[in-house]
Amino acid sequence: MSFTRRQVLGGLIGLGVVGLGAGGARYWLGRPFDRKTHDYELIAAPHDIELVPGHVTPAWAFGGQAPGVELRCRQGDELRVRFINHLPEATTIHWHGIRLPLEMDGVPYVSQLPVLPGEYFDYRFVVPDAGSYWYHPHQSSAEQLGRGLVGPLIIEEREPSGFLHERTLCLKSWHVDKEGAFTAFSVPREAAREGTRGRLSTINGVSLPTLELPAGQVVRLRLINVDNTVTYRLNLPKGEARIYALDGNPIAPRPLGKEYWLGPGMRIDLALKVPEVGADELSLRNGPLRLATIKAVASNEAAGEWPPALPANPVAEPDLSRAETLRFNFEWAAALASPADEAAGRYKYWQINGEAWDINDKTCADRPIAKLKKDGHYIFVLRNMAQYQHPIHLHGLIFKVLDSNRREIEPYYTDTFLLGKNETARIAFVADNPGVWMFHCHVIDHMETGLMAAIEIA
Ligand code: C2O
Ligand code: CU
Ligand code: CU
Repeated sequence: MSFTRRQVLGGLIGLGVVGLGAGGARYWLGRPFDRKTHDYELIAAPHDIELVPGHVTPAWAFGGQAPGVELRCRQGDELRVRFINHLPEATTIHWHGIRLPLEMDGVPYVSQLPVLPGEYFDYRFVVPDAGSYWYHPHQSSAEQLGRGLVGPLIIEEREPSGFLHERTLCLKSWHVDKEGAFTAFSVPREAAREGTRGRLSTINGVSLPTLELPAGQVVRLRLINVDNTVTYRLNLPKGEARIYALDGNPIAPRPLGKEYWLGPGMRIDLALKVPEVGADELSLRNGPLRLATIKAVASNEAAGEWPPALPANPVAEPDLSRAETLRFNFEWAAALASPADEAAGRYKYWQINGEAWDINDKTCADRPIAKLKKDGHYIFVLRNMAQYQHPIHLHGLIFKVLDSNRREIEPYYTDTFLLGKNETARIAFVADNPGVWMFHCHVIDHMETGLMAAIEIA
């Protein structure tokens, strides 16, 4: 399937379903929109920021900030965003974790054509699930996300959740040097390993911030890992914190415990009981490294109590007794890079079931790695054959994590599962959203060097 400009312009003025892919896949283009009505006008543009004091970093920003402006919508409502591209190159927006129609999913040449410089695209969809989500391009990801095109998307519960205070914290380690200049977003020898790390770790674009929170209150911290590479080993020594949701989806609240590993793309909603004024400051850390200082400031509200568990999202429960099982091996594939590819800067280091996705081939999605029946029940066995972790993400659906051969898992719902070294885990879901959905590792270097595939549901 190849898109033409005419088809997309046609889509904007009222064309419905357009075309069949080579594999028989059906692709959708834009439906007619009422152009007068949108809730947000979101502009992507170059924007200088100050990450290193006294120095300028030429970031790319959504809504004049990097990470981008926080978008909010209420569960069950329609989110309408007019996205305007003022970047020097084409891009798209993908809404990570949101179950939406394929034509709104923001994958170039699968859901839509790239939005060219100077053009706009109206994203418009109903959000079925509450929770902490995020948005980012799905094109030239190492550079575009690396330069700052990442932003939080908060879907509020239909009814008040019981949290009176909340903060959104976007975690990102920037690829900048001591003068704030960008360094390489992707280095081949790193892509072949854990991925290329940035040096400057930040929360909401600030290195080592102090978060002032109301003393004695329970605050919902929405932590979103918007980083290209880093898995944060989150801990909050001496802090009284409980986990309320993972990757947008509520769990039965439980203590944060020693450490939680938050891979790229993943989110965790913590409830933190803020200490009294004058108590020791808390330190939010990545392993032994401080990310932020938490300081209590006087509050005249009565001390807060732990809110009840958040209401579950309306996700269909997979029936394991009649589920079909499919296996996916995530493997190292350095041998796939031919000398010519290496010379041309086309590297493939990773593969799924022996197939490496080619980021430069617009037709890859015409050859889905699996074809699922609409409304069928499926178990995926995910097997990591490598020494590096892979946060495995599936678009368009929410899946249930069942178990792992390496650790105890309390089954939970998510869109991204951090598959550890040599781990095999099982996930299950009902294939209730038709489309061609990207299935990939969220370490950007891995997805851009082979670790991506398409799953077709029809
Ligand atoms: Cu954050 Cu393809 O996704
Ligand atoms: Cu996604
Ligand atoms: Cu990976």
